[in-house]
Amino acid sequence: MDHDRWLAELTEFLRIPSISTLPVHDADCRRAAEWVARDLRRLGCRDVAFLGSETHPVVWGAGPEVPGAPTLLIYGHYDVQPPDPLNEWTTPPFEPSVRDGRIYARGAADDKGQVFCLLRAMEASGTPPVNLRFMIEGEEEYGSKVLFDLLRREPERTRADVALVADMSYVAPGWPAVYTTLRGMCYAEITVRTAKHDLHSGEYGGAAPNAHEELCRLLSRLKGTDGKINVPGLYSAVKAPSARERALWKRLPFKEKEFLHRRVQAKALTGLKGRSVFERLWALPTFEIHGITGGFTGVGAKTVIPAEATAKVSLRLVPNQKMKTVERQVAAAVKRLVPKYVTVTVRFLHGADPAQVRIDHPAFQLLDRAFHDVVGRGIVAARAGGSIPVVPALGRQGAPVLLTGIGLPDDRLHAPDEKLDLQQLWDGVRVFQRFFELLGQDGKP
Ligand code: BES
Ligand code: MN
Ligand code: MN
Repeated sequence: MDHDRWLAELTEFLRIPSISTLPVHDADCRRAAEWVARDLRRLGCRDVAFLGSETHPVVWGAGPEVPGAPTLLIYGHYDVQPPDPLNEWTTPPFEPSVRDGRIYARGAADDKGQVFCLLRAMEASGTPPVNLRFMIEGEEEYGSKVLFDLLRREPERTRADVALVADMSYVAPGWPAVYTTLRGMCYAEITVRTAKHDLHSGEYGGAAPNAHEELCRLLSRLKGTDGKINVPGLYSAVKAPSARERALWKRLPFKEKEFLHRRVQAKALTGLKGRSVFERLWALPTFEIHGITGGFTGVGAKTVIPAEATAKVSLRLVPNQKMKTVERQVAAAVKRLVPKYVTVTVRFLHGADPAQVRIDHPAFQLLDRAFHDVVGRGIVAARAGGSIPVVPALGRQGAPVLLTGIGLPDDRLHAPDEKLDLQQLWDGVRVFQRFFELLGQDGKP
């Protein structure tokens, strides 16, 4: 295994600022897609193609045909989240830098580093003993619309014996995992308008409504200080985890104190009282405010009563909630919570249903063995708090969906100083190589 060359190649991939949510980076997303396509061709893939979009295409590639061997569909994404706040990065997000055996860059763990890991597992296999199908998309961080449309037109793309997604982490160092659920998502922009235009706060202050004040009141009504989300009907579909599953969670390597002080690095945890941290992270919906704009935010001081204010918010959804239902519930709750003199609009930007997968298919035992053989411990079952919109659709043709990953819990996804431990990457290459081998030996599982 040529780690030096691989590191140089990964660096080249990570240098491309493929931020799918920002239109100014459309050409960069395209370049990242081209990087993936070139790599697939070099590895001997056939039918390498861009599907569904000029700017954020799904990159498709099929490995050499192995008659009679199982088909493994590999999903990943080459797009990344915006890197701000830039001044909190030790080294710039798109100038990958290795320190203490870790590579720091936006996308190092989510998900370019993991896509790279799978590509190098194919390379290390020489001729993989399975029929590989790569489906690497460029819009995961923005709701996967291109891929959803593609799968609606061409559902047979997901026809496979097994589907593999490496876009997550171990539950703790040395503890590889397989995930049984992912949360869904409902992302919205709420805009409040209180007047035709901004007003002088001396001339009108005391008598005129203020858009920011109304927005703040609305947001604070949407979630109480007790952590409960005040959207009628929201909790009715939520399926409580079984006693058996909660007992399994107690056996996972997790210490609340360590989670607070080492990972969250705040002074306290928040959320619903009387519910465990895992329940709050994995089995309950959330409501988060991502940013508020409008009014005066420049340097210095300006005395104005803003006429408009906007908040970007999202809810995470859990089994058995439905994105479409939650959209309706949120829109209705917002309308009900503002006073009559306020005009409010809710625009939904993207979303996803929650995912739930069964892990009793024999392929899970092969993944377990692969991790066991390489890192000395098999997979533990856990849930994930994050979302991967396309996962429910990936399994629709019957393939079991293996949700796993080679990251670590402290990789700082979507945050400054995102990183991937290189040992995790090199181990990961061997794990997936071993998994291909076991799947090939097993024949059609
Ligand atoms: N890889 C993450 C999802 C993830 C993170 C799963 C942590 C499990 C643990 C993925 O790239 C992601 O960030 N997805 C977005 C999707 C959203 C924009 C629709 C997310 O979860 O915010
Ligand atoms: Mn990801
Ligand atoms: Mn992500």
